[in-house]
Amino acid sequence: MGVGASAAYAADAPRGQQVANANACMGCHAVDRKLVGPSFQQIAAKYKGDRDASAKLARKVKDGGSGVWGMIPMPAHQSMSDADIHAVVDWVLAGAPSK
Ligand code: HEC
Repeated sequence: MGVGASAAYAADAPRGQQVANANACMGCHAVDRKLVGPSFQQIAAKYKGDRDASAKLARKVKDGGSGVWGMIPMPAHQSMSDADIHAVVDWVLAGAPSK
């Protein structure tokens, strides 16, 4: 399982990407262009070198909020587990790689 040719299949995608797909993040975000919210690559660039970014963005995903990128609010995700939130936030901060 999970060798060579199967790398493109969803099951082999990074966990953060799977979490993003499973929680409708991609309805408002894309990896490389702005949709309703900033692209995940823009977010990675903005917080590059910010050691508090992971904790700060995890709270933002959970509680929602606005005013960092514009007036459109990011909805809260209270039902997501902390493990899923950290996986997706760390994936975003890594620049949302496809593998
Ligand atoms: C309904 C649309 C919508 C959905 C769904 C959504 N977002 Fe967002 N997101 C936004 C908007 C709008 C912003 C900009 C908020 C701001 O300006 O403070 C944002 C900002 C962010 C940021 C940057 C926050 C900051 O303070 O810089 C992260 C990280 C993020 N979203 C991750 C996620 C993840 C992960 C999910 C899925 C669990 C998700 N978003 C789902 C609209 C959305």
